Amino acid sequence: MTSVGTVQSSIGSLSISQMIGSLLLVIRLKAVWTVVYNLFFHPLKNFPGPTLAAATYLYEYWFEIFRGGTYLFEVERLHEIYGPIIRFNPDEIHIKDSHYYDEICSSGTQRRDKSHAFISSIASPGATLATIEHDHHRMRHAMVSKFFSKQSFQALEPRILEHIELLMDKFEDSRKSETILNLHTEFAALTADIIAIYIFGMSFRDLAGAANVEDSRKAFRGLARYFHYFRFYPGLNYIVEAVPLWLKSKVFPEVRALLGEREAIRQECVKSLSTQSVEGQSFFNSLTGPSVSAAEKTIPRLADEGWIMLRHSSKDSAVGLFHLLSNETMWRTLRKEIRDAVPLADGPVNWSQVENLPYLSGVVNEALRLSFGVVSRSPRVPPYEPMVYKGFIIPPGTPISQSNYFVLRDPKIFHDPFEFRPERWFEPEVQENCLQHFFVVFSKGTRQCLGISLARCEIVVTLANIVRRFDLKLANPEENVEFRRDYIVAYPEKGDPKTLVQVLSASD
Ligand code: HEM
Repeated sequence: MTSVGTVQSSIGSLSISQMIGSLLLVIRLKAVWTVVYNLFFHPLKNFPGPTLAAATYLYEYWFEIFRGGTYLFEVERLHEIYGPIIRFNPDEIHIKDSHYYDEICSSGTQRRDKSHAFISSIASPGATLATIEHDHHRMRHAMVSKFFSKQSFQALEPRILEHIELLMDKFEDSRKSETILNLHTEFAALTADIIAIYIFGMSFRDLAGAANVEDSRKAFRGLARYFHYFRFYPGLNYIVEAVPLWLKSKVFPEVRALLGEREAIRQECVKSLSTQSVEGQSFFNSLTGPSVSAAEKTIPRLADEGWIMLRHSSKDSAVGLFHLLSNETMWRTLRKEIRDAVPLADGPVNWSQVENLPYLSGVVNEALRLSFGVVSRSPRVPPYEPMVYKGFIIPPGTPISQSNYFVLRDPKIFHDPFEFRPERWFEPEVQENCLQHFFVVFSKGTRQCLGISLARCEIVVTLANIVRRFDLKLANPEENVEFRRDYIVAYPEKGDPKTLVQVLSASD
């Protein structure tokens, strides 16, 4: 009998419990071997960091899953012990050095992939933001960036202003009826409308039909809390994707609005593919023109792009504004600057009237800086060449990151980093410090945010219009906005971030 035959007949003679026992033994041996490999044979074996974190992912798992999105704070503690470069899980390196951020996110000729493990948690592989491989990303980036040109932006400014005016009407109604507003909800609704017009040519309400912006926002916020689960169990996304829409809506009624939104976007993509497209006419047309390869013109690819654009951009700066609202002198200084530039009698404020006001720019920078944007690390992977940091040679293929959070509150760059101080942006020493260089809210390099001008314009013009006309009185405590948990963006200890305000007539 051959040896294969001998093995087969031996397996055949095992009882079920013996088979399960053998399987468990194999799993245990595999786990032991993985730990031995991670500690003694792994290419990162000589990097500083705790042995437990190098040996197994359970260390990170404990903080992200059991202690709810808190590994970032542990990583900070580990840096205090082990220095600026650490191996904080078996396969990744974190470098806490603001001056090395540009090297990680490189904008030069160096190639930077994204990390498979991270991107699988986003579950939208068709989106530019989630494209792993460098060249593939460059190709998609080139297509999408046409749509974020200065001309596209200028053409849409009147429609952006229309929506800001609608928000002002809502503030006026709230003042009259003395109701409390949550700035997060209001800003998220405004952003959703503006982006839907930008991308789909229609407002969010038209796009999503009956779907309510607040329901979608809540559902998305709820989903973000599972970000770490999706990261540790990459198969989970595909299971969720495979479940039919009607069943998902039944089992998870709280995400129904989000599913409706995704379906509406999918329908838009179907429409765009079936109509004769003239390249460059609209967002989807520019992704489906004759020069685009068939592989890039599939419905799932386009739907991913549209959905990520809509949902990614709904980050807001309301957390940062909490600090402005807590300080009456700042509010009045800001109002004076805006009213000197655009007197009340002149009607609503537009972008060109306020884009260069120094105090307003400082306030917006501080609001964004202290909202932190994306706090989760977004590793970059140099696919072929090693990276060198202070004598450490990091092998190609290693995911390397530095959370934006560490740079944005680096005390060597932003003195008293937790203080909301608009003046820091126009003080004389700014020239030396180059704060702008370290303003990484929108990331940097080849993967930098494409919506910077749009996001800035929306925040600057909205804030200018609010401050010029109203006073806002804070109606919630600080713990609703303090960053305690990392679920891609910053969350407080409990619930969602909230900035509740009562709208009053301007007192001067
Ligand atoms: C305050 C609002 C915003 C913040 C803080 C923000 C932040 C970011 C960050 C940090 C990244 C890099 C992600 C990574 O490193 O993995 C990014 C990428 C991106 N953002 Fe934004 N973003 C904002 C608004 C917008 C808006 C309004 C749009 C436009 C609809 C937009 C479109 C994009 C796109 C397309 C990318 C991917 C770029 C690429 O990979 O080539 N963002 N954003």
